[in-house]
Amino acid sequence: MNNKIIIINGPNLNLLGEREQSQYGSITFEKLRENCKKKSQELNLDVEFTQSNVEGELVDIIQDSRNKFDGIIINAAAFTHTSVAIRDALEIFKKPIIELHISNIYKREEFRQKSLISDIVTGGIFGLGANGYILAIISMHKLLKNEN
Ligand code: DQA
Repeated sequence: MNNKIIIINGPNLNLLGEREQSQYGSITFEKLRENCKKKSQELNLDVEFTQSNVEGELVDIIQDSRNKFDGIIINAAAFTHTSVAIRDALEIFKKPIIELHISNIYKREEFRQKSLISDIVTGGIFGLGANGYILAIISMHKLLKNEN
């Protein structure tokens, strides 16, 4: 049976392609979704690609994931820097988690340089653009196959 993963995107990532292209590039959210689906299919991973602007909805999605998915890739966006609730929900998920950021949060404003989830996730990717999603899928595939 294929492993199942979920890619969770936080606030404003639905506007990729439109928002701050200097930070996030020109790829649209729809194109990113397509690219992630294609790479996951190549690796025989079943993928769900989701986004919400609402903190509580993200907490619900993370909670529900524990019985449905083998791994989480999360770009919590602005909530990375503020949400204890998302951190707590991720801590309940006892399987691999990859934290992802399109931009290099450590090269940006001071308030972005603190992630509330980095110390509880399996690993992270940041600053590599939208391609980071593809790298995260490959890494998750290896983690789930114990090839890391
Ligand atoms: C982001 C970085 C966050 O600081 C920001 O709030 C985002 C996107 C990134 O992918 O680089 O919305 O998570």
